[in-house]
Amino acid sequence: MALINPMKFIEKAQEKGCAIASFNVHNLETIQAVVEGAYEENCPVIIQTTPGTLKHAGIPYIAACVKAAAELYDVPIALHVDHCKSFETIMQCIRYGYTSVMIDAAHLPYEENVAMVKKVVEVAKSVGVAVEGELGRIGGTEDTLTVDEREATFTVPSEAVEFVKATGIDTLAIAIGTAHGEYKGEPKLDFERLSEIRKCVDLPLVLHGASGVPDYQIKESLSRGISKINIATELKIPMAKAIKECFANKPTEIDPRNYMGAAKLAVKEVVREKIRLCNGTNLADCLK
Ligand code: 13P
Repeated sequence: MALINPMKFIEKAQEKGCAIASFNVHNLETIQAVVEGAYEENCPVIIQTTPGTLKHAGIPYIAACVKAAAELYDVPIALHVDHCKSFETIMQCIRYGYTSVMIDAAHLPYEENVAMVKKVVEVAKSVGVAVEGELGRIGGTEDTLTVDEREATFTVPSEAVEFVKATGIDTLAIAIGTAHGEYKGEPKLDFERLSEIRKCVDLPLVLHGASGVPDYQIKESLSRGISKINIATELKIPMAKAIKECFANKPTEIDPRNYMGAAKLAVKEVVREKIRLCNGTNLADCLK
């Protein structure tokens, strides 16, 4: 199967009250882990890369590996660039076959945010690529993007209505109390705000910083209208742990197929758990 525009399955998830688990990958093994996990759960999936990963691995390598995975596994797959501030990088990703992009202009004043997002929407939509926009700012660190707690701001429902109308985005990432990276204590999501936003805008809503959010709060987010959740840190942790364990058990290990193989299996387990948490198992059947 070729890579597809994720709106085809995000809208289905929205209709069914479940969410698409979207995973940030960094290399071949994480791509394989996500695709195999999604295939085993029979659930459409979004593979995401931050600009930091594009710098590390290169757009052509990532695009080629994800396209190969999509050809090998009979499950719908979209390729998305996450938190990209650069219009040029977004254009390059689209040229290499990305089917979805997130333009992150939330750091700009409102009018400039709107103008930048609109510019991306015009080009992306003309070639069938989906666009995610963000209103409000999610705190914490995602690769090279750090938003200080004092700068993090929650999404204002009335502004969300205006922003969606003005930009023409397909999905909206909202700030309701999650943060990128590891939490110091238990996060407390502002569910009232989520419900308020859900009441005023029709398009699918995205929850960033889903790693470390307790399952009951993810479930509550789904029931109040989140249709895509982003996970990065919760894949990095088991990956590093599996590699460390490999070396702890066998300090003379030098074969990357052994330690990276163990890492891949550990990541795949979490991918499957997150898909189940989002009620995504067998969602692919609803698209046939
Ligand atoms: P986490 O690292 O907290 O999972 O956040 C991922 C994310 O939101 C990517 O955009």
